[in-house]
Amino acid sequence: MSNEEKKNYTIGIIGGTGKEGKGLAYRWVKAGHKVIIGSRQWEKAQKAVEAVSDLLGGETELLEGMENRDAVAGCEIAVITVPYAAHRPTLEGLKDVLGGKILIDVVVPIVQPKVTKAQMPKAGSAAQEAQEILGEDCRVVDAFQNISHERLTNKGDIDCDVLVCGKGKAARDVVLRLVEDAGLRGWDAGPIENAVVVEGLTSILIGLNIQHHVHASGIRITGMPDQE
Ligand SMILES: NC(=O)c1ccc[n+]([C@@H]2O[C@H](COP(=O)([O-])OP(=O)(O)OC[C@H]3O[C@@H](n4cnc5c(N)ncnc54)[C@H](OP(=O)(O)O)[C@@H]3O)[C@@H](O)[C@H]2O)c1
Repeated sequence: MSNEEKKNYTIGIIGGTGKEGKGLAYRWVKAGHKVIIGSRQWEKAQKAVEAVSDLLGGETELLEGMENRDAVAGCEIAVITVPYAAHRPTLEGLKDVLGGKILIDVVVPIVQPKVTKAQMPKAGSAAQEAQEILGEDCRVVDAFQNISHERLTNKGDIDCDVLVCGKGKAARDVVLRLVEDAGLRGWDAGPIENAVVVEGLTSILIGLNIQHHVHASGIRITGMPDQE
């Protein structure tokens, strides 16, 4: 791995005050990255920083809370973890500050009440919708849709894989490194058109959770050389 690949990033999480955003913040700070938790309200971001800091046993140096726009402006890599209903308006409002960056889109286009049925937007997936909104200047990469927040805040290893698909191999490689730093095994799942599969899988996992009375089912890729 080159020095460039080993560098620690400043990651800004839009809607990072929620369940999934705080889980990712916890994992990335633990790995040495700086995380800016973004929110619509500065005060709410500070509360989320306190909660993640508690999980980390008091670590505060690598954590900061800001309004979403400042979090994106101050980061190298942006992440969005808001409910699907807020996806489009939030991205439209941040388009100017997302220019030139990688955006990790964690959003699943869940439409209530049929949460166990994959219901993709017109663009094909939330990630493709984000790419359409943000234009070519921002590289949108899908990841973490199939990982429950409960797994992320769990202190041990996570027995799940992460499929990473999106705009350009270089951007996917950066996100694969961040998946590994979060304690997960990632797979390059190809171009952004494959996001329909990754996002759609979440509805299947929610259905399995309901059928089997669990909270955090996940996926594993098998048959790879290191597993034989
Ligand atoms: N939870 C999981 O286990 C999980 C797993 C995989 C993927 N995901 C996906 O990750 C995303 C976030 O999930 P979550 O469970 O973390 O959601 P959440 O806790 O319900 O919400 C996350 C944050 O989104 C912001 N938000 C809520 N409504 C908004 C609005 N109308 N406009 C702008 N921002 C709004 C809020 O931040 P502020 O109020 O601070 O602005 C909130 O704290 C979803 O798309 C979900 O499908 C979740």
